[in-house]
Amino acid sequence: MEIYKDMITGLNIDNNKNHVVFRKLNNWLGTIEKLYVDKDKRRKGIATKFLRTIECFAIADGIGKLSLLCRSDNDAAVALYLKNGFFIEATLKRHYSSDTNHYVLSKFIGVEKIENK
Ligand SMILES: CC(C)(COP(=O)(O)OP(=O)(O)OC[C@H]1O[C@@H](n2cnc3c(N)ncnc32)[C@H](O)[C@@H]1OP(=O)(O)O)[C@@H](O)C(=O)NCCC(=O)NCCS
Repeated sequence: MEIYKDMITGLNIDNNKNHVVFRKLNNWLGTIEKLYVDKDKRRKGIATKFLRTIECFAIADGIGKLSLLCRSDNDAAVALYLKNGFFIEATLKRHYSSDTNHYVLSKFIGVEKIENK
């Protein structure tokens, strides 16, 4: 368990009501999990701020790509990620044995840095 300690960054506000977890999968790839914004606080830009903060952490850590799984019927989350520069990299049919598909949503980050080298 110790090995994961430095690889997970959790952000939360309002006594954990709104939260997200960033997990570094390896030196190049990070993922986002457990994104949740309280129903009363939605559409106020909180999730967008979480994503921007995670992106800053990830870039500072040398991560070049963020990828996550999201149910394809989660219109709010899919819209949020697309608006924030993610693209649908793949569709996983009936992932987790559920009756819905999942999208792999990805974003390349910190690319300017690499291009300027
Ligand atoms: C998805 C979720 C995290 C969005 O949080 P939020 O703080 O309301 O998101 P933001 O205010 O930053 O929204 C940014 C943009 O995302 C899109 N968006 C967010 N919610 C939306 C909705 N219900 N319908 C359509 N678009 C939506 C919009 O483009 C929005 O910009 P706008 O408000 O200027 O139109 C929130 O609805 C939630 O917690 N849902 C339940 C948990 C969940 O599904 N988590 C994601 C798992 S992958």
